[in-house]
Amino acid sequence: MNPAGKVAVVTGAASGLGCAVAAALLEAGARVVLFDRDAERGAAVAAAAGDAALFVSVDVTNEAQVRAGIDQALARFGALHICVNCAGVPDAAKTVADGKPFPLAIWEKVIAVNLTGTFNVLRLAAVAMTRNEPENDERGVIVNLSSGAAHDGQMGQAAYAASKAGVIGLTLPVARDLADQGIRCVAVAPGLFDTPMVAGLPKKVAQAIVDRMVLFPRRMGTPAELAQLVRSVVENPYINATCLHIDAGARMSAR
Ligand SMILES: NC(=O)c1ccc[n+]([C@@H]2O[C@H](COP(=O)([O-])OP(=O)(O)OC[C@H]3O[C@@H](n4cnc5c(N)ncnc54)[C@H](O)[C@@H]3O)[C@@H](O)[C@H]2O)c1
Repeated sequence: MNPAGKVAVVTGAASGLGCAVAAALLEAGARVVLFDRDAERGAAVAAAAGDAALFVSVDVTNEAQVRAGIDQALARFGALHICVNCAGVPDAAKTVADGKPFPLAIWEKVIAVNLTGTFNVLRLAAVAMTRNEPENDERGVIVNLSSGAAHDGQMGQAAYAASKAGVIGLTLPVARDLADQGIRCVAVAPGLFDTPMVAGLPKKVAQAIVDRMVLFPRRMGTPAELAQLVRSVVENPYINATCLHIDAGARMSAR
């Protein structure tokens, strides 16, 4: 799908990878609706992008807020063709630490945002996409951010890895459900990218991943490199129902 003239919703767009994806789609000529729960940063990003961007304060776990956000996107830009789910949280804990179990509240939060939130947004976006006139047989594209942790979760990442494996797991059935409507669904699994989320890791943890686990080039990825892949997925009609890894050959070890 050519993004030029299309309408995209990008979640988590106030920061990091979502912000870079929004910028790449705007550069490709799309109009972009930015969803984030961080209203201050989201509004600033949209204001800097101009009339082709609209920020809506949305918590992806909240059905009413997502419905209202999509309604605002349709009211402003008239349709919805592209949905990129980048909203995510990395909260971690060990399964047992000092004799105490993994706090269930952390598990529920991570699954709610990363997995349920992704599905909540994509299912409501897909309804809007089904109303589009097909262009080259296509009505829409959904791209969901998974993670290398889906396969190689590190210590403390039980909830995060499960949520990101869930994002890969839903890819094929969603693509199957929507194929007759001309809507694709693709997962993208980044390795380690230089974003505020990673800046929240202890410096020595991030450096150890780069030094010991990233093959080549031995550095973190840039948000622009991830956004370039998402744009390619949108543009290339033959990519569907799969998970694409972008990680410089990284294989995560236990810690
Ligand atoms: N940075 C990496 O190395 C990396 C690697 C693999 C996967 N990922 C995934 O990529 C995505 C983006 O990560 P990032 O590094 O840009 O993180 P980030 O923290 O910079 O950005 C995440 C954004 O999501 C928003 N968000 C969180 N919970 C939300 C909610 N409930 N509703 C709406 N918005 C919410 C935050 O406000 C923030 O703006 C995440 O899903 C993350 O798990 C990142």
